[in-house]
Amino acid sequence: MTSNRTFTMIKPDAVSNGHIGNIINDITSSGFKIIAMKYLHLTQSQAENFYGIHRERPFFKDLVSFMISGPIVAAILEKDNAVEDFRTLIGATNPENAAEGTIRKKYAKSIDANAIHGSDSNENADIESNFFFSSFERF
Ligand code: CMP
Repeated sequence: MTSNRTFTMIKPDAVSNGHIGNIINDITSSGFKIIAMKYLHLTQSQAENFYGIHRERPFFKDLVSFMISGPIVAAILEKDNAVEDFRTLIGATNPENAAEGTIRKKYAKSIDANAIHGSDSNENADIESNFFFSSFERF
């Protein structure tokens, strides 16, 4: 089943390198509507909980440290076939493998500092959106 909503974070590397504006422009000009958005700095326990699914992976500790190294932008986005189309727009997890013109190809430097997150399923889009936004904070 397809869903019309997905969740994204502009990660600390892209924020500190001044790419928020360009990335939001890439997202909206690709047809995504912003349903909710906030700028915040995750705490360690928030980052550990958000990435709980990766707790046993070897990169978990580095991932959490990176995600708390600076502020992020979290958002819920809407478009037909949102999860899949957004994953296409952002490109492969490792920017070395990302297609030309994708957000990670343009703005990411490494698999850790990969500029942006996009939900990998409709179910995770819901879970991740609910992690950051209450029902009063989305339109
Ligand atoms: P993202 O998919 O947004 O969320 C999990 C993150 O873990 C992923 O982006 C990468 O930035 C990071 N990561 C680091 N190493 C790996 C790896 N080997 N496989 C997948 N993700 C990795």
